[in-house]
Amino acid sequence: MRTEVAIVGGGPAGLLLAHLLHQAGVATVVLEQRSREAVEHTIRAGVLEQGTVDLLGATGLGERLSRDGVVHHGIELRFGGRGHRIPLSELTGGRAITLYPQHEVLRDLISARLVAGGPLLFGARVTHLDNSPGRLPRLRYEQQGIETTLNCDFVVGCDGFHSIVRSAIPQRREFQTTYPFAWYGILQEGPPLAPELIYTHHARGFALASTRTPSLQRLYLQCPPDTQSEDWSDAHIRHELGLRLATADGAPITCCGKIIQKDVVAMRSFVCETMRHGRLLLAGDAAHIVPPTGAKGMNLALNDIRLLAPALVSAVRHGDDQLLQQYPADSLVRIWRAQRFSGWMTRLLHQMEDADPYQQRLQQTELERLVSSRAAALALAEEYVG
Ligand code: PHB
Repeated sequence: MRTEVAIVGGGPAGLLLAHLLHQAGVATVVLEQRSREAVEHTIRAGVLEQGTVDLLGATGLGERLSRDGVVHHGIELRFGGRGHRIPLSELTGGRAITLYPQHEVLRDLISARLVAGGPLLFGARVTHLDNSPGRLPRLRYEQQGIETTLNCDFVVGCDGFHSIVRSAIPQRREFQTTYPFAWYGILQEGPPLAPELIYTHHARGFALASTRTPSLQRLYLQCPPDTQSEDWSDAHIRHELGLRLATADGAPITCCGKIIQKDVVAMRSFVCETMRHGRLLLAGDAAHIVPPTGAKGMNLALNDIRLLAPALVSAVRHGDDQLLQQYPADSLVRIWRAQRFSGWMTRLLHQMEDADPYQQRLQQTELERLVSSRAAALALAEEYVG
């Protein structure tokens, strides 16, 4: 089999790339290891930056998003038992975030791919990637017990943190750091706890109240990094949520809907700066991971594709690889900016185990400053809305 661009990974990055390349008349094959069912139902991120909403709209993917996405104009920072609103839109000249779950973005992308008629292979596992110098890349994949060889002009790894494509790149320039905690995430039936997201700093650990639909809420609690989802009972989760989200004025917390899913989200920061090696390219989580605190993961992945798609079109169509050469440097500007912001939000809001009393005071001072200085709040808002 032969194609122009083989895309490994059918997440948001891989599928948006396939969509944009199809619109430009470039042939692609998308290989996704998981089943369609699993892809469409795994609960992941939920916050789209303004720029991501604009990008999806401009490429014909905005119909359900503009109907079902919920626009938020602010977030709440809660600490010392008090809530403080950061008015994102007011601070940024009208920019906002949109709550629209990642699996809904994926449904939109999968239907666009099916309409386009391009190959999208589920349950397809790459078993070998041959990138010998002086030859076009070739990969082998296995689907339902059958091995197929795919020859192509380019291979793009959109295959997540454990990327096979990345592992085929020698001598990579990589940077990473880990955090001594994770997030315990739940999906809970019932109405939103509040009209906007609540990011809480508390002596017992960070908590975040987010939302998925008017009747399904997404909540997270800082937990030890080795926590398993079955370790925490419903009663324990409710108890922690109640304590961490409590306000001094005693406003009631409606945390008692049925918990229908529990999972633990790892926290790490990672950048592979070698996003291009000859005809191999990386995008999204294959090249970079941020802790979820800044809600940047999917936005960054889609921004990679915004830059990579025209670069591949010009290489495949016109044999001009100048944009491809520039792609890593262009992408890395945003990637490092998001690394800085996500790391800063994480250290700002979590209980940092190794923090001494002096550092705790600094953390407190930084929180106070964010809610008392317009300049400080603006700096947060600008990065958060993207
Ligand atoms: C989510 O809704 O899953 C979510 C929201 C905000 C974050 C992280 C995750 O910062």
